[in-house]
Amino acid sequence: MQHFFNLFLLIFIIRSGIQILSDHPRLYWTRHSTPGRDWFRIQKPVPADPLWTAKKDSISLPGQVGLPGIRHSIGLARWWHLGVDTLWLLNGAVFYVLLFTTGHWRHVVPTSWSVIPNAVSVLIQYLSLQWPVESGWVAYNSLQLIAYFITIFIAAPLAFVTGLGMSPALSTRFKPISRRFSIQLARSLHFLVLVWFLFFITIHVTLVFTTGLLGNLNHIYAGRDATDWVGFRGLRRLDGGGRGGLGGGHPIHVAPPAGGAAGRLRADRAGANGSSNSSTRPRASTARKTSRPTSGTTASTPTRRSTPPCSTGTSPTIGCGSTASSSTPSSSP
Ligand code: HEM
Repeated sequence: MQHFFNLFLLIFIIRSGIQILSDHPRLYWTRHSTPGRDWFRIQKPVPADPLWTAKKDSISLPGQVGLPGIRHSIGLARWWHLGVDTLWLLNGAVFYVLLFTTGHWRHVVPTSWSVIPNAVSVLIQYLSLQWPVESGWVAYNSLQLIAYFITIFIAAPLAFVTGLGMSPALSTRFKPISRRFSIQLARSLHFLVLVWFLFFITIHVTLVFTTGLLGNLNHIYAGRDATDWVGFRGLRRLDGGGRGGLGGGHPIHVAPPAGGAAGRLRADRAGANGSSNSSTRPRASTARKTSRPTSGTTASTPTRRSTPPCSTGTSPTIGCGSTASSSTPSSSP
């Protein structure tokens, strides 16, 4: 349930974040964000044309990528981003509590430097396509452990801190901090968090699929070590039978709570319902997408994962950090 919410909310956070970025697709390290000083851009260099405006600078995104996927829709994108952020942070707070009250933290926090050589060994195995023995139910290998640690204890808190750092109100109130940690620096670091999450999610999902999908889904969504379809069905139920956010659809339409021209709102909805990046024509399929059974929120109650031997052993890191084959470095290149 926890993992599902995380995944579900992240989809909306990432899409709306990219939408915000596309409104001013340039990043700077310092507050001196004048033309030509960007270190990253998804636009041509600012032309000499004196009539070039911020609106012209914004780029269009396909409806399936951005949220809402309409050019220069930063207001709606902020509404989505900050709204969903709040839920994501609450979910994260619950996760932290569970992590430390169940002792599961031992599986995701390195407690010995040996985790680094072990991780290198595991990486070599992955790269040489001789993958380490999969034992995620008992203990993650060192590379997984480091990746989870970075995601949970560095990237996620950094998303929050840099999110606060982008606030003009805080920036003016805490000048000694914001003079060094400027809004533009916060934006750039926030963007790097996005890059990390995209990298992590890509590798994570690939490994979930390629190292025994059903077994992994059971671990994640049913809390059991089996290779039947129970975990898969749990995920489907949580996602409303496949009609939830995971399929790229929207659980609710994208219109803001109030105001706006009716025509524009209809176009917003059409654009964000997975259709092309149209800002002109509402689609007939909207009705189907907006009504969704909600029965799926009660997943099968997972039996709690038994404490793996790794957490009770004398050296949790070694246990967590090395797989059967990672302790003997691969003979492959
Ligand atoms: C993994 C989680 C997150 C990702 C991937 C993400 C991604 C992004 C991206 C790409 C942008 C556009 C930056 C720009 O060009 O200005 C953005 C904007 C922003 N994000 Fe996040 N974000 C995440 C979590 C958070 C959290 C937890 C907060 C809460 C404090 C937050 C607050 C903001 C704010 C305030 C903005 C600027 C909005 C604006 O310009 O009005 N983000 N985010």
